[in-house]
Amino acid sequence: MPKVLISDKMSPLAEQTFKERGVDVDYKPGLSPEELIAIIGDYDGLAIRSATKVTPEVLEAATNLKVIGRAGIGVDNINVPAATNGGVIVMNTPFGNSITTAEHAIAMMMALARQIPQANASTHEGKWEKSAFMGVEVTGKTLGLIGAGNIGSIVADRAHGLKMKVIAFDPYLSHERADDLGIQKVELDELLARADFITLHTPLTDQTRGILGAESFAKMKKGVRIVNCARGGLIDEAALKDALDSGQVEGAALDVFEVEPAKENVLFGHPKVICTPHLGASTTEAQVNVALQVADQISEYLMTGG
Ligand code: MLT
Repeated sequence: MPKVLISDKMSPLAEQTFKERGVDVDYKPGLSPEELIAIIGDYDGLAIRSATKVTPEVLEAATNLKVIGRAGIGVDNINVPAATNGGVIVMNTPFGNSITTAEHAIAMMMALARQIPQANASTHEGKWEKSAFMGVEVTGKTLGLIGAGNIGSIVADRAHGLKMKVIAFDPYLSHERADDLGIQKVELDELLARADFITLHTPLTDQTRGILGAESFAKMKKGVRIVNCARGGLIDEAALKDALDSGQVEGAALDVFEVEPAKENVLFGHPKVICTPHLGASTTEAQVNVALQVADQISEYLMTGG
């Protein structure tokens, strides 16, 4: 019987699915890197979320490992080249949390437009600062998507419901698909010049790292608002702080940070910045979806050899 380790907190449905599929499973979230290295040799499969870091050292100790499944989209916490060199397959669940993450991006955009977190904090302090929190409508505004894949296309759909115009920069987006989505496909510079709100929905790669930096902020419409629920590292955080200080950028809503867990950050405490601790995929529905999908995919691979 193949044996799988779940080494991050995950819905109990993952464990149940493995058992139903005839896979032996251990649920041990919260292992230290040393503890993981000590036991990983016993397992054929590893199911993780974000906390487990699958380093070359872990992979070296994983002498029986055949498959790693991430219950989520990004595989940033897995050293994929080292896994591939060792013959270990890496899987993700690209669809399970797309709606949830898109909804978080929309929530962040609305929170930015009306400064809801700031107004909430002020009201709790008994200040009743009615004139301090003048907002903007999103109706009729242009939303610029950087990335129009699984998540970006759902954001576009919801933004249409909010009566926004949607434009997108995405080299992989065909004109036909853009037409189907009701999106205008544009080059990055055009998006920067036209968008009132910009949301990011792209993985972090060598091509996308720092896609929004000092040069890009200078090309944006003054007063633009930016939402990032994709990956830290897409935005140059120091350059964003300068753009916020100068008023070029009116507000930023960030769910992701260059270094996570983010206990310190150059943007923390900035009055125009709204932050959440990488909650993009954190809904009951999404966590059930990704847990079921990852357990299903890993079981399928181990029981049938792919
Ligand atoms: C993902 O990669 O699926 C999201 O960033 C959510 C998460 O990290 O769990």
